[in-house]
Amino acid sequence: MSEATLSTDATARIIDGRETAALVKEEVRLRIAQLREETGASPCLAMVLVGEDPASQSYVRMKARDCEQVGIIARDHHLSADVSQEHLDALIDELNADAQVNGILVQMPLPVGLDEEEVVERIDPAKDVDGFHPVSLGRLLRGLPGMRPCTPAGVMALLDQYGIELEGKHAVVVGRSNIVGKPQAILLLERNATVTICHSRTCDLPAVCRTADVLVAAVGHAQMIDASYIKPGATVIDVGINRTEDGTMVGDVDFESARAVAGAITPVPGGVGVMTRALLMRNTVEAFETQQSVGKGA
Ligand code: GUN
Repeated sequence: MSEATLSTDATARIIDGRETAALVKEEVRLRIAQLREETGASPCLAMVLVGEDPASQSYVRMKARDCEQVGIIARDHHLSADVSQEHLDALIDELNADAQVNGILVQMPLPVGLDEEEVVERIDPAKDVDGFHPVSLGRLLRGLPGMRPCTPAGVMALLDQYGIELEGKHAVVVGRSNIVGKPQAILLLERNATVTICHSRTCDLPAVCRTADVLVAAVGHAQMIDASYIKPGATVIDVGINRTEDGTMVGDVDFESARAVAGAITPVPGGVGVMTRALLMRNTVEAFETQQSVGKGA
C-alpha cells in the first residue's frame, strides 16, 4: 500500500475508557483488600439521591455497582423531590458526623427549589469525594493535595494511560463549568501544558480549537465539535453526554467526522464517563485512608 493510501485511510487511535477504568478499579480493589487486612474496615460511600430523575437514578445505580465491584460499602439515601432544604441539610450534617461514612456524594442536579451551592458547601471537605467543595477547588488551584473532581481527574488518567504528552503542548478546554472546564484547565496547567479555556462567547471557536494539540470538549452540545475544529493528529477528549431524539447517547464531538482528522480520540459511550466513576472509587479510598491515617493517607 502506498503512503498516500495509508494517510487517507488513517483514522484516530481510540482511547478506551472502559479498559482504563477497569485498570483503575482493579488497583482500587487491591488497595481496599490490603486496607481491610490492616484495619478490619472498608471504605463507605454515602450517596444521596433527591427525586426521581431517571438519568440520576441510573448514575447512582451504576456508582453503587462500581462500589460493590471494588469493595466499597455503598449507602443509599433516597429523598423525595419535595424534601425541604432543612431536611437535606440535616442529612448531610448527620453523614458528616458519622465516622463510618468516608465519602458523601449528592447526585446533581437537585430538583428546583433546593440550593446546590448550599449543599456542596455543607459537605465536610474531608468527605468531598466529588471534589466540588470550595476548599477542594481552592486546594487544586493552590497546587495542594486534596480531592480532585472526578471527570477532569479521569481525563488526566486517560491521557497518562495513552502516553499523551502534555508538557509545552497547547491544551484547549471548551467549557468553563466549575465541575469540568475550570478544574480541567488547572490540572492540565499543573502538567505544564499551555492552556486556553474557550466558551460560548469565544470568537472563532473552530480556529482556536484548531491550534490545540489536546482538545477537551465539555460544552454540553451534541456533536458540535466536528473535523473543522481539529488540528490533524490532535488528541480529542469528549466529556459530553447528550441524548439525541431517538435516545442514542452521543458526545460533544461528532465522532465519525473527528476521527478522520484526530490522532487519538475518546468514544461516547466508553470514554470519559466510565472514568469519572472509576475516579470516584479512587477518591473514596483516598478519603478513607486520610481519615484513618493509613495507606497512602498515613
Ligand atoms: N451529576 C452529573 N455528574 C455528577 C457528578 O460527577 N457528581 C454528582 N454529585 N452529580 C453529578
